Amino acid sequence: MAAAGRRLLWAAVSALVLASEAAAVAELDDSFKENRKDDIWLVDFYAPWCGHCKKLEPVWNEVGIEMKNMGSPVKVGKMDATSYSSIASEFGVRGYPTIKLLKGDLAYNYRGPRTKDDIIEFANRVAGPLIRPLPSQLMFEHVQRRHRVLFVYVGGESPLKEKYIEVASELIVYTYFFSASEDVLPEYVTLPELPAVVVFKDGTYFVYDEYEDGDLSSWINRERFQGYLNVDGFTLYELGDTGKLVAIAVIDDKNSSVEHTRLKSIIQEVAKEYRDHFHRDFQFGHMDGNDYINSLLMDELTIPTVVVLNTSNQQYFLPDRPIESIEDMVQFINDILDGTAEAQGGDGILQRIKRIIYDAKSTVVSVFKSSPLLGCFLFGLPLGVISIMCYGICTADTDGGTEETVATKKETGDGELTDEGSEEEQEEENKDTSVALSDGEQKQKNVLDKKKD
Ligand SMILES: *[C@@H]1O[C@H](CO)[C@@H](O)[C@H](O)[C@H]1NC(C)=O
Ligand SMILES: *[C@@H]1O[C@H](CO)[C@@H](O)[C@H](O)[C@H]1NC(C)=O
Repeated sequence: MAAAGRRLLWAAVSALVLASEAAAVAELDDSFKENRKDDIWLVDFYAPWCGHCKKLEPVWNEVGIEMKNMGSPVKVGKMDATSYSSIASEFGVRGYPTIKLLKGDLAYNYRGPRTKDDIIEFANRVAGPLIRPLPSQLMFEHVQRRHRVLFVYVGGESPLKEKYIEVASELIVYTYFFSASEDVLPEYVTLPELPAVVVFKDGTYFVYDEYEDGDLSSWINRERFQGYLNVDGFTLYELGDTGKLVAIAVIDDKNSSVEHTRLKSIIQEVAKEYRDHFHRDFQFGHMDGNDYINSLLMDELTIPTVVVLNTSNQQYFLPDRPIESIEDMVQFINDILDGTAEAQGGDGILQRIKRIIYDAKSTVVSVFKSSPLLGCFLFGLPLGVISIMCYGICTADTDGGTEETVATKKETGDGELTDEGSEEEQEEENKDTSVALSDGEQKQKNVLDKKKD
């Protein structure tokens, strides 16, 4: 009797839990377009067959529950973009899953790691006020401790402030925007004039200079990273927006031998000491391990090494001799700048074909490494590619197979050159994240396509 009662209670509790989970994430349909207007929505556009969408689902439920528990004004929903494809395409959904925050007429794409905390942080940032005032020194210090890169507008109403707000409405997908009066800033800050836009980072601060730095939006895009970064695939993808050259030490973080640690500190030193010379054109950092970079460059780099990537045209540079000192590195950078260093890679047609063959190969390899055939379905490759691959595998006619793959990929029209089977993952490549319902110009960032797992 007691046991039965308990079981009943348990069933009731589970039902409740399920109900609250369901309520935390709304399943959206046709009516969403009409009904959404007054609310801010965080939406996962998914496809039922897509593996990465399935992986996101439990995370998404947690996001929904937590946002609800926090009392967030942001509503969390998901939409089967294959059933409501016309709505999805109006929102500019081009791949699955696509995460967007919809706020009035604006749609913001989420492109960061798909973890609960990152997604919630994004939603809170984008849904909140564009410009957050810092009313006191205490508040400033508190915020400064929490943000490694901190943009602050200092001064009263002005055309610069209007510009700042305009830029914030676009770039809030990446960073926070604050405002403060001059007396709130730390003592060591001296501003040449007011109003001013200041970025605090790397243990110091830099003041925006319209004359030297060009327009505010591109300055903020360049300055929103620390001078020296721990670079991973996501960071590299984001760095694509800056158009900078990315100079990275590729090392093994766990290897404490001098070759590895020295290379890292050389890059760190160059980033710091030569900021004035190079920061406009270069981003510095290091990357742990060479797996990612090797598949990105389709090369076999031995670590430790330095590589410089051109994020605008996907070329890269390798030093012709080991970098052993700061001088070596500065020399290498100057060789790149004056054109004496030889560029490799690029986004020409040959490179694209090489990429496709490379991807096809690594897909075949990883399919067989996991479980043959079943792998095909789990990977969720588009049907055309699957059949071509299976055809290729069956007839052992690799060349024919890859050529056809070329055609298929071209047909999709965006030359998306991703890694193994992440075709379904195609991220919205819209550079302008705030352009809501129009596709706008698609900026290809093949080099920086995110690597998955
Ligand atoms: C550390 O790096 C050095 C130089 O690349 C290499 O010879 C050595 O085997 C590495 N040690 C470990 C533990 O990986
Ligand atoms: C990087 O690529 C851009 C775009 O093609 C090009 O204009 C620039 O010169 C390249 N930079 C270097 C150092 O090769």
